[in-house]
Amino acid sequence: MAGTFETVGVVGLGTMGAGIAEVFARAGLTVIGVEADPAALERGRGHLEGSTGRALARGKLTEAERAEILGRVSFTTSLEDLADADLVIEAIPEVMDYKRALFTDLDRVCKPSAVLATNTSSLSVTAIAATTTRPGRVIGMHFFNPAPVMKLVEVVRTVTTDDGLAGEVADLARRLGKTPVTVGDRAGFVVNRLLLAYLNHAAALLENGLAGRDDIDAAMKLGAGFPMGPFALLDLIGLDTSYEICEVLFRETRDRRHAPAPILRELVTAGRLGRKSGEGFHCAEEPQSPSPHEKPSAASVAVLGEGAEEFSARLSGAGFKIVDPEGAELVLALSHTPVVERAVRLPHPDRLVGLHLVGDQVAEVASTVLTSPDTARVAHGLLRILGRTPVPCKDRAEFVVDALLYPYLNDAVRMYESGYASIEDIDTAMKLGCGYPAGPFETLDRLGLETVRDGLRALYAEYREPSFAPAPLLDQLVTAGVRSIRDLTP
Ligand code: 3HC
Repeated sequence: MAGTFETVGVVGLGTMGAGIAEVFARAGLTVIGVEADPAALERGRGHLEGSTGRALARGKLTEAERAEILGRVSFTTSLEDLADADLVIEAIPEVMDYKRALFTDLDRVCKPSAVLATNTSSLSVTAIAATTTRPGRVIGMHFFNPAPVMKLVEVVRTVTTDDGLAGEVADLARRLGKTPVTVGDRAGFVVNRLLLAYLNHAAALLENGLAGRDDIDAAMKLGAGFPMGPFALLDLIGLDTSYEICEVLFRETRDRRHAPAPILRELVTAGRLGRKSGEGFHCAEEPQSPSPHEKPSAASVAVLGEGAEEFSARLSGAGFKIVDPEGAELVLALSHTPVVERAVRLPHPDRLVGLHLVGDQVAEVASTVLTSPDTARVAHGLLRILGRTPVPCKDRAEFVVDALLYPYLNDAVRMYESGYASIEDIDTAMKLGCGYPAGPFETLDRLGLETVRDGLRALYAEYREPSFAPAPLLDQLVTAGVRSIRDLTP
């Protein structure tokens, strides 16, 4: 019964541990926070006071409520103080040796009925459980950053977990105001398996020079509707944690896309760990670069490709003169497949850019190797006049947003196809764990299975990355004329 969890220990009071302690205390449980030394303990206390202080300042908590929450949390540097805890959750760094050593100690100190939970992001819960004499009482309870805000808890059961324990822990998660998704023990579980592959892919595209950091962030935030761009999110998660998760994923899958992008290693080695160290992909003090407002000097524009008529009408409405491509000062090729093929057929290939409108706010602007810098600048200015954020990028298959989105959707299909999690659980996990407006299967349905399948084929043809090849299930559904993958839900 979830009611049997009244006293909870939280070991490790970094960002995640302190957030988890706050969640338990807010739900009325007694919390014992443990850190390795007094300085770390003070930092942990500071996290909790800061977070509840913010809630107070925003009028989300009264002074009395805040005092009550903080009053439920005691702080110690001694594991022995966990002797009477009903559940202990570990949130220490993602290093297996540290976790195994800790669980050996917890097993010795805690009462036999206590549940030992790990908040590991990706490490094997089974391997952690195996260090104890009570593997049946060991489980994964994976929260998401910021823990007080994100509604998901992944409950990870192993082959040795006692029958019924996952259900009890899921009930506890509900008591905390969270939504549990219960899964088996695979590297990265549901969310990190899908999320880190996408984040690492973004880092690899940045390294390849497809587009700039802020442009990729803007594209995914404004174009895909994600709450944060990939680099802002990597900084939030921590680059060291992200690196470790990718390592673990790669070790299990041997999928090159999981091998940490070299830029992650470099930043981590340089001590740039993200928000926790003040600098990561972004720096804390970095001024927001004001978007340059180039005034387009082009009087005459030509639009090519699917939807050219409609877009030309909008341009005319905004005062631009629409002409033939041969006479145009700027040629916009509405496409998100390589556009250089169109450029080479024009008398002035330097005047052509590829254009992909994403949602209502973003326009990806792809320069080919022949595009002149002036042409790109003019195109950016023109798009700003139309109220869109231009995302400059190279002329590569699917440009930026779809190049990142489609492999993520493909991964979700593969995950479902492997029998690891249901369509509903994967959608719920991504929405509640990452704040996405829709789950991957909802997004697939919205975009159209065939569009995504064809996009993946184009990506595969361009990059020859094996995991970009459409999942067999996706291919078959398109062939069978099935419109919605969610129709497969029993
Ligand atoms: N602690 C407590 N509360 C916080 C917080 C924090 N660190 N950060 C934000 N909040 C609260 C705010 O107080 C506010 O609460 P209110 O609505 O009650 O006033 C609410 O969250 C929204 O905050 P803001 O208005 O300041 O900012 P945003 O609207 O931009 O939201 C965000 C911030 C919630 C972080 C949002 O950008 C988001 O959902 N980002 C995605 C985060 C994500 O993907 N997390 C998962 C990462 S993966 C992971 O953690 C797994 C691990 O294993 C790696």
